[in-house]
Amino acid sequence: MCIMIMKMKDFNSKNLISFKENAFFEQEETYTPLVNAMRAYKESPCTGFHIPGHNRGQGVLDSFSSLIGIDALNLDTTDEFDNLGTLFPSSGAIDEAQRLASKVFNSKRTFFLTGGSTIANLALAFALTHPNDKIAIGRNCHRSVLSGMIISGANPQWIMPKKLDDWAIYGALNPLELQDRLEKNSDISLVWVTNPTYEGVVSDVEAIARVCHEFDVPLIVDEAHGCLWNFSNVLPKTALECGADAVVHSLHKTGGSMTQSSMLHISKNSRFDVHKVEHALKLLHTTSPSLLLLTSLDAARAYLSSKKGNLAIKNAIDNALYFRERASKINGVKVLNSLSGVAFDVTKIFLKVDGLSGKRLESILELDFSIEIESASDEGILILSNIGNTQEEFNVLLNALNKIASSNYPDLAYLEGIKFMPLTAPKVVMSPREAYFSKKERINKQDAIGRICAEVIALCPPGISVLLPGELICEHHLPYLSDFSEIDVLEK
Ligand SMILES: Cc1ncc(COP(=O)(O)O)c(C=O)c1O
Repeated sequence: MCIMIMKMKDFNSKNLISFKENAFFEQEETYTPLVNAMRAYKESPCTGFHIPGHNRGQGVLDSFSSLIGIDALNLDTTDEFDNLGTLFPSSGAIDEAQRLASKVFNSKRTFFLTGGSTIANLALAFALTHPNDKIAIGRNCHRSVLSGMIISGANPQWIMPKKLDDWAIYGALNPLELQDRLEKNSDISLVWVTNPTYEGVVSDVEAIARVCHEFDVPLIVDEAHGCLWNFSNVLPKTALECGADAVVHSLHKTGGSMTQSSMLHISKNSRFDVHKVEHALKLLHTTSPSLLLLTSLDAARAYLSSKKGNLAIKNAIDNALYFRERASKINGVKVLNSLSGVAFDVTKIFLKVDGLSGKRLESILELDFSIEIESASDEGILILSNIGNTQEEFNVLLNALNKIASSNYPDLAYLEGIKFMPLTAPKVVMSPREAYFSKKERINKQDAIGRICAEVIALCPPGISVLLPGELICEHHLPYLSDFSEIDVLEK
């Protein structure tokens, strides 16, 4: 945590030029086996009698074809065909692209995935946890981790991250709390944390990994929102550097690959059996992975490793600092920063405007200024400074915030009594799997207080749970259930 705050103090646009010393960054363009294979496939078409049935765009609605372009349809294919390789087992250009990614991320093995980080979390749970295993998990985990627990039958032992009540978001996980939990529960077999949080708050993963090593318990880090860290030494240290055993990266979120494409890394010193993980992926992953998505991972890895990509990351950081400085000077606007005692990824900017809930601010920006932000909590909004954003775009946002902060926008009455960001501690009655597969009934939510929940209630974004199967439904959950009139509960 301190590291990040120190880095923030030292920030100025000049020292942002210093990137990780890595041979890949010295190359203007890096080798892209999958992009190359796809180009060859496009340039030398053969007569095809295989899936996908639209056969390079010939069998689709004209208006769809003109909407997305014939090139996209031409390249819409899956593995097995046309010398592009296979994903499971890994072969050909796909295998080569994965190996290059593994080298860049410094992992023992990197898997390309087309089912998002969701499939990575599911597969890790499926491969590495067993019925009744005790798994220490940060409560701010994504719902895919819980779905994994339902699949395997393991029992989550919740570690509550610090709550930043003024911002209605979760903060960091305390390594000492984890240490205490491991000391008192020698049967915990795995630790699973999310870092950074969706809003960019960073936990001290180095200390968490040290604790895990001390107790010889493996560590999974869901770093879905932190894949850029590998490519800049002014962003936090990666979980792979910190000593995690497996790390999940949603390259499609901030790394520039296409939506749904992700990576799962097994670290060099991992205590996990790579083949077990691969086997679980093989069972859970689609058998028709989109080559477009896989190729976008190859392209993203090459881009982020190139000088141009590194400049884009530097710009994302510069733009974030530029925006942070100016936004915090607007009367009525507060930006979450290191002065709040929080370590964070600077490219994720969380702010609030006096007198407006986060959700109301989000809707004003969208309806009155045509600005779409990443998400909103009860208190504030999340803005991402991405590798694809420009400083001009941040000026547009600053202009809008200036106008909003100096106007008298009322918060809307309909938002009263509704909450969006669950910061509730669970009362666990039974395991998620046991409850999920028990006999259920669907009842009015008002009548559900005091009953045991039988479904996963996790609003997206950020996909953090309000209630899980096996947890007691309490009065304090009601404000988070505005989208529900009925809930699945266990039969009495
Ligand atoms: C921390 C975290 N992990 C995993 C996921 C799932 O990622 P995906 O949408 O790539 O399946 C998300 C999605 O928002 C997330 O926030």
